[in-house]
Amino acid sequence: MTDLDDLISVLDFERRAEQLLPPGVHGYYAGGAGDEVTLAENRAAFRRWQFRPRMLVDVSGCTTRTTVLGEEVALPVLVAPFAVPGLGHPDGVRGIARAAAGAGTLHCVSSLADASPAQVAAAAPGGRFWFQVYWYRRDTGITRAAFQLAAEAGFKAIVLTVDAPRVSRRERDLRNRWAPPADMIVPSLFEATGGKLGRQADFFALLSDAMTWRDLDDIVSWSPLPVIVKGVLTAEDARLAVEHGVGAIVVSNHGGRQLDEVAASIDALPEVVEAVDGQVEVLLDGGVRRGSDVVKALALGARAVLIGRPALWGLACGGEAGVERVLQTLQTEVEICLALLGVTAPSEVGQQHLQRAQG
Ligand SMILES: Cc1cc2nc3c(=O)[nH]c(=O)nc-3n(C[C@H](O)[C@H](O)[C@H](O)COP(=O)(O)O)c2cc1C
Repeated sequence: MTDLDDLISVLDFERRAEQLLPPGVHGYYAGGAGDEVTLAENRAAFRRWQFRPRMLVDVSGCTTRTTVLGEEVALPVLVAPFAVPGLGHPDGVRGIARAAAGAGTLHCVSSLADASPAQVAAAAPGGRFWFQVYWYRRDTGITRAAFQLAAEAGFKAIVLTVDAPRVSRRERDLRNRWAPPADMIVPSLFEATGGKLGRQADFFALLSDAMTWRDLDDIVSWSPLPVIVKGVLTAEDARLAVEHGVGAIVVSNHGGRQLDEVAASIDALPEVVEAVDGQVEVLLDGGVRRGSDVVKALALGARAVLIGRPALWGLACGGEAGVERVLQTLQTEVEICLALLGVTAPSEVGQQHLQRAQG
């Protein structure tokens, strides 16, 4: 049994999770693509920024509250989508969803999660959710049905992941001879096809690597919910995303799991923010492990961040309670960081609070 009180930082959760998880599942969660250069860079790049704090500011009313796409959240930290979170703990995505709801934030539920949008909504009443999708280009009817079911379940947005026309080679999985079981059921697909299709193998057989920006136009035009794109890393694509009508952009390299040797998310953020020029909100994920990382992302123009693996480590260590503890820990760290920086809210953080690290 893990006593959550022993786990003080996200890094403590990470170490403990490695002891608890079966090696194959741990490798799948922790690993990245290729030489894992981007995986490491996502962390290292945060260290290349230092704070420029201001003193003698009244920070007695300091809050971590903010809004993301008009939704009020208790902290500028959302929970990213994960395939098969149930492999790490029986609470699975329902536990993550309840923890996010308990912490007052949003969870972006993966279409490969171990519960459908309706099941997640039923498990976490009062929660706020986005639905992450890959596009079933080989059968648009299924995509439309999946969006409709998410809207009916009260989900607030569709998050289209655009950095995965193919699944990358993740060598830890190959070395461990590990893959998510192909006959595992994907509840969101099962429901969207009225029970006709539902295995992981069916899911991947429906995907196509031929998707283009023109297809995004179609999706935006018939989606009942705002469409967010996840996986943008350049100013060029950020401008295209805005032109094609997205509601927000997530700067992300999929946690270093897709194209290796791309920029760390925090390094790609400034050019995306500049290109978007305030037209839509910009979020970031990748390597966020500390409240200070969150605040650095805000300073460089992100509206909020999403955490990936930290939520999975929380789940492995304590199910729903573990995820909630991870979110509380980050909230405490964000609040301390804001106050010591001399600001009282996420919206007050700006570029003036950062400089490139010396030496
Ligand atoms: C085990 C695992 C499964 C993931 N599954 C998905 C997924 O189904 N869809 C998706 O868009 N991103 C997926 N991601 C990427 C995350 O949403 C997120 O972009 C990434 O984990 C952020 O980096 P971090 O883990 O360093 O915080 C997955 C990440 C991990 C670690």
